[in-house]
Amino acid sequence: MANLLLTLSLWLLAGSPLIQATYYRHHRYIPHYRYREHTANTENLLPDVSNPAPEVTQSGASTNHEIPEVFHPAPESVHPMPEVFHPVPEVVHPAPESYLPPQVLEPAAPVPPFTSRVFYGVMFDAGSTGTRIHIYKFIQKDPVELPVLDSEMYHAIKPGLSEYKYNPEEGGNTIRQLLKIAKKTIPEEDWKRTPVVLRATAGLRLLTDEQAEGILNEVREVFEESPFYVPSNSVSIMNGINEGVLAWVTVNFLTGHLYSNTRRTVGILDLGGGSTQITFLPKSKKTIETAPPSYTARFNLFNNTYELYTHSYLKNGLIAARLATLGALGADGLDWKVFTSPCLPKKYKAEVTFGGYTYKVSGIPDGYAGYKLCYYEVQRVIKGIFHQPYEVKGTNVFYAFSHYFDRANETGLISERGGTVEVRDFKKKAKEVCNKMTKYRPISPFLCMDMTYITCLLKEGFGFKDSTVLHLAKKVNNVETSWALGATFDFFRNFNIH
Ligand SMILES: *[C@@H]1O[C@H](CO)[C@@H](O)[C@H](O)[C@H]1NC(C)=O
Ligand SMILES: *[C@@H]1O[C@H](CO)[C@@H](O)[C@H](O)[C@H]1NC(C)=O
Repeated sequence: MANLLLTLSLWLLAGSPLIQATYYRHHRYIPHYRYREHTANTENLLPDVSNPAPEVTQSGASTNHEIPEVFHPAPESVHPMPEVFHPVPEVVHPAPESYLPPQVLEPAAPVPPFTSRVFYGVMFDAGSTGTRIHIYKFIQKDPVELPVLDSEMYHAIKPGLSEYKYNPEEGGNTIRQLLKIAKKTIPEEDWKRTPVVLRATAGLRLLTDEQAEGILNEVREVFEESPFYVPSNSVSIMNGINEGVLAWVTVNFLTGHLYSNTRRTVGILDLGGGSTQITFLPKSKKTIETAPPSYTARFNLFNNTYELYTHSYLKNGLIAARLATLGALGADGLDWKVFTSPCLPKKYKAEVTFGGYTYKVSGIPDGYAGYKLCYYEVQRVIKGIFHQPYEVKGTNVFYAFSHYFDRANETGLISERGGTVEVRDFKKKAKEVCNKMTKYRPISPFLCMDMTYITCLLKEGFGFKDSTVLHLAKKVNNVETSWALGATFDFFRNFNIH
């Protein structure tokens, strides 16, 4: 055991200097109707390779009551998951209104014997700044109902696939490395029925079709040579609508909002490196009526049709916005040019790589720096570009994650465990960071620019009020708040997002 762990550690050290962070959490998902502070991730454990046997739950009956099913009873025509690995979309019934809250366990007629089954899903999130692998373990406890999410294994590697546009094979190698982790996490006997899926986001959307296809083809080859199940369409670029909708599904699933019959849900704000998404379920019809047609999406889930307000703003992710603020984004071939900004510490000089381009950036050595000037610059990246939804000033609860969370954590706005802030707290902190750049520089020279951008994005982009409360969370119930879990459900269930 010790030897195996050591071997694994050595492998990690030797084989993958790029690897950033690993965690492995084992937990049972128990739905809650209210947001519950999740526990800190104290167990930074590597997968226990010495014990690859799947953990099948002890004979169903007794645990059933402690672990309520997280899903609604499935419509009859839907088969239990392990059978649905074929890529044929399933029939989802158009939505009548009523469904049972999940905690109500039918006072069951004698249940026919059914051994609960464990199965896995592997989802790659190919973002602009890194590639992440999510390995989900599900337990099918009942042949009819949807499975329970048992645990998530998550691992990140940098840089993102888009950096390999001139060298797709190298990009494929990063996927190969991450697949090794899947092999160590998933018992061998499950490999050939475990689907591997990769969805790329803004990083690849920003490349030419040819460049993106070159990378995706490489990934397809790596998948094909792996021992896992490769469904058709297993590798693709996800559109912005799906990215927003599936993150919304993840967060509302994890916060328990997909079951409550009040249909109360939470909105989501996602800030990636290349793009940013806003998604929520409007309470008022006017929000949909006044939205541009492409800013709404419908999908089917558990006999309900949801109509969401959702949009992804390409080039308005945090890293893309930095370069846009500097006037550098897309300025290819300007190797000689140094892009400057009052958002950066005066003496700061560096080269920044994004999307396979390298840009020289610096502060303004003898000029001015600070919040006001910075805000003015950042505004140009936002003004006239964003649509302000009718309802956003209202009472919707929003969860914000990814870079919203990271910056709030780094500046001490919230603790590592997450928390709630008002929009005005971002503004206050942005002022503080920009006016004391030397103090905050060790965290990141871009902190002033980032905090100012987030402030401007929330206020002048989406139109949030100063007093709007945002819940910042990296994880809910120990599962990452990202679109990856929603995308895994979509793969198995086909939400028919349209
Ligand atoms: C879903 O809809 C179908 C068809 O209308 C119905 O037979 C089924 O009972 C519904 N399921 C739930 C959980 O409401
Ligand atoms: C929060 O920020 C601290 C300090 O920058 C960092 O060490 C830590 O990893 C961050 N936590 C999370 C969950 O990102």
